[in-house]
Order: sequence, then C-alpha cells, then structure tokens
Amino acid sequence: MTARSHDVWQEACEQLQTARDVVRFGATQMAQSDIYFGHGTDNAWDESIFLLLEILQLPWSLLDAILDARLTQSEREQILNLYLRRIHERKPAAYLVGRAWFAGLPFIVNEHVLVPRSPFAELIEKQFSPWVQESPQRILDLCTGSGCIGIATALAFPESVVDLSDISPEAVDTAWQNIDYHQLGHRVRALESDLFSNLEDRYDVIITNPPYVDREDLDAMPKEYHHEPEIALASGEDGLDFTRRLLSQAKNHLTENGKLFCEVGNSWWALDEAFPALNFTWIEFENGGHGVFVIDAKALAEYF
Ligand SMILES: C[S@@+](CC[C@H](N)C(=O)[O-])C[C@H]1O[C@@H](n2cnc3c(N)ncnc32)[C@H](O)[C@@H]1O
Repeated sequence: MTARSHDVWQEACEQLQTARDVVRFGATQMAQSDIYFGHGTDNAWDESIFLLLEILQLPWSLLDAILDARLTQSEREQILNLYLRRIHERKPAAYLVGRAWFAGLPFIVNEHVLVPRSPFAELIEKQFSPWVQESPQRILDLCTGSGCIGIATALAFPESVVDLSDISPEAVDTAWQNIDYHQLGHRVRALESDLFSNLEDRYDVIITNPPYVDREDLDAMPKEYHHEPEIALASGEDGLDFTRRLLSQAKNHLTENGKLFCEVGNSWWALDEAFPALNFTWIEFENGGHGVFVIDAKALAEYF
C-alpha cells in the first residue's frame, strides 16, 4: 500500500460514521480495484454489506434498520481492515470471515472447501420439483465440500437420511462441523470416499456438484479462485474426467426409480457431445446458473 492510499484509509476510519458511510466507502474502494466478484455476491455494494454484517453479527433482514446507525471506532477498524484485505489478498470474502450463505442458510467454510454458490440452491428450495415427486428416503451429496448442498437438502426433506461424501479428509471434517452446526447428526453423516469407492448403499437421489472446470477455463480464472482447492475445480482437459467415471458407476448406487442430479457448468456442451445417446434433461434456473442435468437410473442402466 502506498503512503497516499494508507492516508485515505486512515482518514476514512476517522471520518466515516454510519454503517452506510462505511459500506459506501468500501464499495467505492472495491469498485476501483481489480477484485473479482462471484463467490457469494456479484457486486461491490453487496460484498461490502456482507462483510459489514459478518463483523456486526447481524442478519440481512436488519440491514435497513442499521444502515444509518453509527459504528464504534473498533467496528469501523475491523470492517475497513476486512475491505482492505479483500482488495489486497484477493481472497473470497467468505474465507476472510469463515462463513458463507447457501439456500438462505449459514455454513462454516475454510480454504479446504469451495465457497458455496451452486444453482442447486434454487432446486433445493423448490424440493427438486417437478423431478422429485415423493419425499426421498436416502439421499447422497457426492463431492460435498462444506456439506452445503446435502445439508440444505436434508432440511428441505425432513424425513430423509443423507450421506455427504468427499475425497478430501479436510472437506469431510468441515462437513461434519456443518452437520453439528445445523444439529443434523441424527440423520446426516459425512464420509471420506473417492467417488463411490467407500459407499455401499443405494440412494433415491444423488446430487453432485463435482469438479468440472476444463484446463483452458482453469488457467484463465481470476485470482480469487486460486484460493479454492484445485481438487474442487479441475477435472482434466475437457472438465469431464470425474463426470465420465460418475456416469458409468452411478446406476450401481441408485434405487430402481432413483435420479442423479449433476452440475457440470460450462462443460455441459462437451458432455452432450461426448454422450449423444444419453438423454440428459438440462434444468433451467430462474435465479441464474446453468449446466445442471438430471438423468434417471433406468437411462443410465440401459446405456452402461
Ligand atoms: C466443486 S466442489 C463442490 C463442493 C460443494 N458440493 C459445493 O457445492 O460447494 C467439488 C468437491 O469434490 C471433491 N472431489 C474431487 N474429486 C473427488 C472424487 N474423486 N471423489 C469425491 N470427491 C471429490 C472436492 O474435494 C470438492 O470438495
């Protein structure tokens, strides 16, 4: 940081008074920087608010009520320090505070797990309608990371029993922390497994947001993504190494009428091209996002 920019932050800490002042200053500084948004928020204003509320330990629902409240010197220092770190370290905001929101729920996160942001949130909030008609009994969240998808799904289907699995022991540990945080230990568990290698059960629904970034996209990703584990993103030249293995094995872990929901993002066209005879249904989202398909156990059994 140059002496001049140090003065700007020092002056801000002394002069700004309300939460709105601080958020406005943070948003301007972020907008003038080269940081990338896409790990929970998509603009400088929301990113500033997210960090403010995390320091104040207050929910989004109270935002209007507190924007014109004055902050203490210590609160201003803590919040401005986070804004400064966000700009200089290029770390996703969720890693700076150890918390992220997904499907309206809080999750503990760290640099061993992806920052939750999957379009699956919308599907979970709609209880997978119209593809899932009856409440599923057994659900698997494969490649669970923080556990966000499986835990949110468990809460959407209160009668279900849910397994969360991941190849990374640190991710499994984080998923357990989130199981405890949401008090779901009586019907959700986390397991370490490379794909299905350590899983014996069959599931009515398998949901997965696996690694699917192709080599070209990975090389072009902004710095923020390089704070996430590479094993959570990269999946070979065309992004489909994991998904090919998954498709060929999934039928052995689905019940007769089971369904596989899988996100492949930008690699959707490569998947369609690689398996022209497989009948993927590509799901459309109202809140944005793409590259999520659903396929049933019977279609997989006929093909593989
Ligand atoms: C894109 S992240 C998704 C995390 C989480 N589901 C989410 O949406 O935030 C992919 C996850 O897959 C895990 N993973 C990578 N290869 C795997 C494998 N062969 N078997 C199981 N999990 C794997 C990574 O450790 C990572 O946590």
